[in-house]
Formats: sequence, C-alpha cells, structure tokens
Amino acid sequence: MHPQEVAQMFSQIARRYDLANRVLSLNRDRLWRRELVRQAAPRPSERLLDVCTGTGDVVLEFARVCPDLQIVGLDLSEEMLRVAREKFARWSLDRQVRLVQGNALELPFADDSFEIATMAFGLRNLPDRSRGLREIYRVLSPGGRLLILEFALPQSLLVRSFYLLYLRYFLPYVGGLLSGSRTPYEYLRDSILSFPQRAQILEELYAVGFRPVGYRDLSLGIATLYWGGKVIC
Ligand SMILES: C[S@@+](CC[C@H](N)C(=O)[O-])C[C@H]1O[C@@H](n2cnc3c(N)ncnc32)[C@H](O)[C@@H]1O
Repeated sequence: MHPQEVAQMFSQIARRYDLANRVLSLNRDRLWRRELVRQAAPRPSERLLDVCTGTGDVVLEFARVCPDLQIVGLDLSEEMLRVAREKFARWSLDRQVRLVQGNALELPFADDSFEIATMAFGLRNLPDRSRGLREIYRVLSPGGRLLILEFALPQSLLVRSFYLLYLRYFLPYVGGLLSGSRTPYEYLRDSILSFPQRAQILEELYAVGFRPVGYRDLSLGIATLYWGGKVIC
C-alpha cells in the first residue's frame, strides 16, 4: 500500500484508535511501550525521534519518565497528529514535544540529529522497510540506539494457534465495532500475518549497519521489541 493510503486509513480511525488499542490488547499495549522506554534508558537532554508516532503514546511514556528529553514525533497522518497534539496539550507537554508531519521513508532531519529513535507498530506499514531503517540510521548520531516495537506471531505452536483464531475472527470484527471501520483491522490482521519473522528483521537491521542487534518477545510473543545501535566510527 502507498504511504499516503496507509496514512488515510489511520486518519479515518484516529479518534477511536487509542480505545481500540486498549480493548484489543487488553491494555497490554501500554506495558509494551513502557518496556520499550525502559530498554531505551533515556538520559536527560538526549534527543529522541519517535517515527510513526500516531497518537503519541510512546512519546507520552518517554516524557513521563524523562521530562528533560527533547522529543520529536513524526507521522504522515495529520488526523493522528491532531489527536496527539490535543493529548500533549492536556499533559502540558507542548513545549517538550515537537510534532512533524512527514514520511518515514524521507525523514526531514539532518544526519546525526538524535541519540534515540523509536518506532512502535510502524515498521509493518512501511512499503520499503530497508529504506525506512536506513533513514533512521542516518538521523541517529553515532552511539545512538533504535528501538522497534512490532507485532509478531507467537513461537509456541499452541499459543500461535489460539492467536491465529483471535486474529482471523475476533480482531477485525471487534476492531470494526470500536473504530467504526473494519478495513483497517483487516489490514492489521493481514500485515501481522505477512510480517517477516524475527531473524529476518534482525538481518535487515544488521544489513543497514546497526550493531549490536537483538530482540525480546513480550506477552508470549504477540509483540516483539527489537533494538539496534549505530556504531561509533
Ligand atoms: C499502528 S500506528 C502506531 C502509532 C503509535 N506509534 C503507537 O504506538 O500506537 C502506525 C502509524 O504509522 C503511521 N505511518 C504509516 N506509514 C507511515 C509513513 N510512511 N511515514 C510516517 N508515518 C507513517 C500511520 O499514520 C500511523 O499513525
């Protein structure tokens, strides 16, 4: 799917996106983002870029634990950013966080601009993952780190078979009821099913230049946290 079509789909459900996340993940999504922040171990005055920031939940989590971080959130969907903007105003974060409308495949930032980059549930949506990862590598400063949160299929066959039932029958139906549109949740199901397995993502990170790379499964392997560092030359 073209990036603009993906963004349009998210714009359609922006107002209900957070509610659908909470219900469909049984509130696990909050814990996953918290884990991402813990692994990133932000330090005061570091610069953070959250790619595909959506309604800004990753940013909120960082701002909560590290009020001195300088944060930029980027997303292609203006509607998702609008929800994020309203949320940040409620939390008085408008001065700590800058939101930018832009494409993850052409990041509008200079080389070496950030010490931390994150992307939660965005990688699946990029039509050219390698290009997206190369862009992140470029804007990270040497010694910087990338954290990616993404859905995965559980490695245990038993858990996976239950999860596949959930994906095929429950997710599109309930997602449709909660958000008012079933299409994005059919897309979500299909993109999870076709997303490469862990070893391939590690290879892709490595091919771009990230060292070391690694991953850890969360919630029985429904989600996976990947990381990679930009080497200091
Ligand atoms: C599943 S949401 C994830 C939002 C948020 N990171 C979270 O944790 O809930 C994916 C987001 O990626 C954005 N997106 C998709 N393709 C993009 C692209 N090429 N460039 C920037 N944002 C993109 C969508 O607009 C959407 O807001």
